[in-house]
Amino acid sequence: MAHPLEQLGDEALREIQSAGDEQMLEAARVKYLGRSGSVSNWGEQMKTLPKEEKPIVGKLLNEVRTAVTNALESRAHQFRTQKESASLGKIDISLPGTPHEIGAIHPLTQMWERAIEIFRRMGFALADGPDIEDEWHCFDALNTPPEHPARSEKDTFYLPDGRLLRTHTSTVQIRTMQSTPPPLRVIAPGAAYRNEEIDATHAAQFHQIEGLYVDEDVSVADLKGTLEFFMRELFGRETEVQFRPHFFPFTEPSLEVYVKSKALKGGEKWIEVCGSGVVHPAVFEQVNKARGDKAYDPEKWSGFAFGLGMDRLAMILFDIPDLRLFAQNDLRFLRQFA
Ligand code: PHE
Repeated sequence: MAHPLEQLGDEALREIQSAGDEQMLEAARVKYLGRSGSVSNWGEQMKTLPKEEKPIVGKLLNEVRTAVTNALESRAHQFRTQKESASLGKIDISLPGTPHEIGAIHPLTQMWERAIEIFRRMGFALADGPDIEDEWHCFDALNTPPEHPARSEKDTFYLPDGRLLRTHTSTVQIRTMQSTPPPLRVIAPGAAYRNEEIDATHAAQFHQIEGLYVDEDVSVADLKGTLEFFMRELFGRETEVQFRPHFFPFTEPSLEVYVKSKALKGGEKWIEVCGSGVVHPAVFEQVNKARGDKAYDPEKWSGFAFGLGMDRLAMILFDIPDLRLFAQNDLRFLRQFA
């Protein structure tokens, strides 16, 4: 005859096998293996058994406990897989998956990257400055007198504390010369702000690449060579570049740069893309005063500077009709540059 412990084991296994759901299985576990379950009780009873029976019953008890534990685990596993396949059954594996959106680099960023790459090849390093500026860096140091119209509230966004949003990236010329003695060859891409009436070609926030080259014997010829090379690299070899006399307080002479290229849509007309000129000695003097030395001696050093209109360049390069598209985050627009 089987030992009562064996009978108990068989009974437990049968009950576990026939458990219809997880609750019934849990009830069976408590009934046999719980703290006061019948298998556990046998452990207590062991203590009262005569010495010679203990090892035999002890071994039997271990076997039963292991068998019951395994049976509980495998039945639980069955329930889990049943559940999983039930929910899988609802999935149509022939349906296409959820596509991951692949982003595209913003056309303005693409433009920056291309421009930076071209200037890098000509030995220009990157420089940077803050968007919120003081009047000195934006105007005074750049030889722009107090009565200059650019300084009026009509054109410039002033902060209550008297600081302002820089109206051009030429501020970085000053900051770079303050921190670095000549010779110097830097570009500074960044945003600029003007209180403009917004339309297809004007925005209150726009982007420029400032350039500054200071060395001995720098002339208009260097300026023209550099910008012509840049325009042809960007827009193609057949690009024509024209320099027209202009006025900026911080350069003398000052030139506006126009481009025209058959390779571009609407390329038959001249488009203004850049302000430039030879650095005015007064700018060097302002920098010297701020530095407290004569590092930028206008007798020894000369330089040229330029401010490229980034948005304008990108509009030409990618044939974009309206500047406002850059800031509207319309995916139909942005996807075209993937
Ligand atoms: N800062 C000028 C502008 O924003 C452009 C410029 C830069 C002109 C450097 C000359 C030299 O219009």
